[in-house]
Amino acid sequence: MICLGIESSCDETALALVQNGRLLASVLATQVELHALFGGVVPELASREHYRFMGPLFDSLLQKAGISVQNIDAYAVSRGPGLLGALLVGVCFAKGLAFASDKPVLGINHLHAHLLAVGLEKQLVFPALGVLVSGGHTHLYKIHSVDDFEVLGRTLDDAAGEAFDKVGKVLGLAYPAGREFDLLSQRGRDFLTKGDKKLFPRPYLDNDTLDFSFSGLKTAASQYIAKNPELLQPFDSIEEASEPLCRMCAAFTEAVVDTLCSKSAKALHRHSDIQSIIMAGGVAANSHLRVGMQALAQKHSLELLVPSPQLCTDNAAMVAYAGWLYAQKGLFHTLDFEAFARGQVVAENWQGCVKPT
Ligand code: KG4
Ligand code: ZN
Repeated sequence: MICLGIESSCDETALALVQNGRLLASVLATQVELHALFGGVVPELASREHYRFMGPLFDSLLQKAGISVQNIDAYAVSRGPGLLGALLVGVCFAKGLAFASDKPVLGINHLHAHLLAVGLEKQLVFPALGVLVSGGHTHLYKIHSVDDFEVLGRTLDDAAGEAFDKVGKVLGLAYPAGREFDLLSQRGRDFLTKGDKKLFPRPYLDNDTLDFSFSGLKTAASQYIAKNPELLQPFDSIEEASEPLCRMCAAFTEAVVDTLCSKSAKALHRHSDIQSIIMAGGVAANSHLRVGMQALAQKHSLELLVPSPQLCTDNAAMVAYAGWLYAQKGLFHTLDFEAFARGQVVAENWQGCVKPT
């Protein structure tokens, strides 16, 4: 069974084919450089670029895989959360293909797809603690099965990736700043003193919830940078960046990582039946977070499942794979399913779906 996946929720236009649970082929066009000019994603530009890329990418995907459109058995598409206009390009494209070829269509929750992606590389083990850390979202889930996600906590303001990007912007780093921030932090960790470790607060830990709040930490970092303008000295390569800058980045990263790991630990204590930790999203590529989450998993004798870097950031393989998993269970949508924006509450992911009788 071959499932096509389409991803257009933000600034990557991507299509992929999954056959029998394995990736057959994938194509991707990124808009990162275009949006970098504006210091963040411009929604209208993103929609136009998805519209421009979608058709040619579809043709090149079929050519790459050596199949024709008749060989595709189901169409899966990210339906949200994301930028509504951007999502609609993918959703309409998928619906059009499904309608024209009389094949089923599946609207996929983009966040769930991020967490399921590791199933392309490793065995999924449920129930799992899902740690979704991206540029737009920070969610903790208890994942009971491929189509049963329980939200345990979420960010009340900025996402973890957003915090890196916004502080990176204040520091003059290029958007998105997460990767460069990580490289600076890796150097900075060697110089980190006990005092540096207390430089920034561990936000929103003194409460009973599993929610996050990163905006205060972001403000604390911005104020620290304003008081220490020497941090803004330009540099040509990571090796040439100043020691204070690297130390500050390391201290900030530690504050984010400690917060994510503390709340994850709290979730594990509350849900002792959890069998694995799945971490996904762009920030899952962060080297310090990987070490912290690995230590937590080991402490609880659990396996940490993290997809390889190309499956961590936005891609269509994860959408095609999620679609393939649901199709195996006989779950499909009718053509009237809708895309949904970030923050928009939908009753459930399978709203409007046709369940097997
Ligand atoms: O999942 P993703 O590709 O896009 C969505 O937001 O859906 O995540 C992108 C985010 C950006 O905020 C980027 O700065 C961050 O992931 N990121 C990182 C690293 N690599 C990417 N953050 C911290 N450390 C990294 N190594
Ligand atoms: Zn994403």
